[in-house]
Amino acid sequence: MRSNVHTISLPALLPTYAAYPFPILKGHGDRVFDDDGIAYWDFYGGHCVCATGHCHPTVVDAISAQAGELIFYATAARIPLRDQAAHALVEFADGPASVFFCNSGAEAVENALKVALKLTGRKAFLAFEGSFHGRTLLALSVTDDANLRKDYEDFLVPTTFLPFGDMGALDAVDFTTFAAVILEPIQSMAGVKTTDMAWFQAVRTKCDTAGTILIFDEVQTGFGRLGKPFAAHVYGVQSDITTCAKSIASGIPMGALLLSGKVASQLKPGDLGSTFGGGPIACAALLATLSVIHSEGLMERAQEASRLIQSGSAGTVVSAVQGEGLLLGLRVGSQAGALKKFLQSKRILVGGSGDPGVLRLMPPLNLSDEAIQALVDTIHEFSEKTP
Ligand SMILES: Cc1ncc(COP(=O)(O)O)c(C=O)c1O
Repeated sequence: MRSNVHTISLPALLPTYAAYPFPILKGHGDRVFDDDGIAYWDFYGGHCVCATGHCHPTVVDAISAQAGELIFYATAARIPLRDQAAHALVEFADGPASVFFCNSGAEAVENALKVALKLTGRKAFLAFEGSFHGRTLLALSVTDDANLRKDYEDFLVPTTFLPFGDMGALDAVDFTTFAAVILEPIQSMAGVKTTDMAWFQAVRTKCDTAGTILIFDEVQTGFGRLGKPFAAHVYGVQSDITTCAKSIASGIPMGALLLSGKVASQLKPGDLGSTFGGGPIACAALLATLSVIHSEGLMERAQEASRLIQSGSAGTVVSAVQGEGLLLGLRVGSQAGALKKFLQSKRILVGGSGDPGVLRLMPPLNLSDEAIQALVDTIHEFSEKTP
């Protein structure tokens, strides 16, 4: 007997996202192509993922070659490529001592927070208003999104949220009660909000004094996007744990924790684990990604492209360009939604943000001059016809 449930027609793929009105079938460099072969300039970067551009030949070759050698074996086995990837990442980050590989941003955040709970024995976190750190329960505990949290409040670890970048607010709390302070050095989802070096230094000092673990969530800000390897290098402050994901393997799922020597030396075999973490394909993709970033000067290109976008959007509906490198927020105000639609009609993809007045740009770091010109011209065209 068939139950009624089966008579309801549901899409096989659960519709959890608001999808573009067209499918994307191919990607090349800073463009993606729909099913009619129409090209779109990709300033969204598949949500801040495709830093080396779509299907970079070095990355494609590395993945293909590795797939013919070893697709997977358990983390119990020593795989030289995994050691090589960890070594390259530690060298790139220039500060942390060790790496733990996992598969996503939320998994990296989850593990970073678990480590802080374990090492401090404390039971609460400090995070910041506007934060987004992922959807698993610990990551959600430190995410300031009432809508995402509302069904799970009973299961979340107590977290204090302070205003981001507010120096005075730091004095109002007792840091010794927190296992960890977690922050996005640039708050992306909140509308690409930045703060200054002095504030990061103050947070670092307070964590040192209180024995609190400082976690930089560099899932978006890391891997050269800001024109330096990590935001830590932009702001001159090192964390105890850095989380990364998104662009580190050019779109092959991968996450990582970068651990200071002090933190890493307190962890022992069995404390962290993940079946697929640091799989051979992801490690090959990470090494290829780093090689492209270095050989093609992508950090310098990110800075240059950023300057071109900032100067090109002057005198338009864009009243300010927030952010660093190629993590940018265009402050547009009430016309933001209309501009996003107009850009899409002109085959330019950008992202929205938690601030309805800010559009986000998170494109490939090897963004072409042609793409920038198309963006700038279209913003000017929109501005001329907008009262
Ligand atoms: C800053 C930050 N941290 C964590 C995450 C979670 O990453 P993932 O979606 O890979 O789990 C995101 C995702 O957008 C993010 O932007």
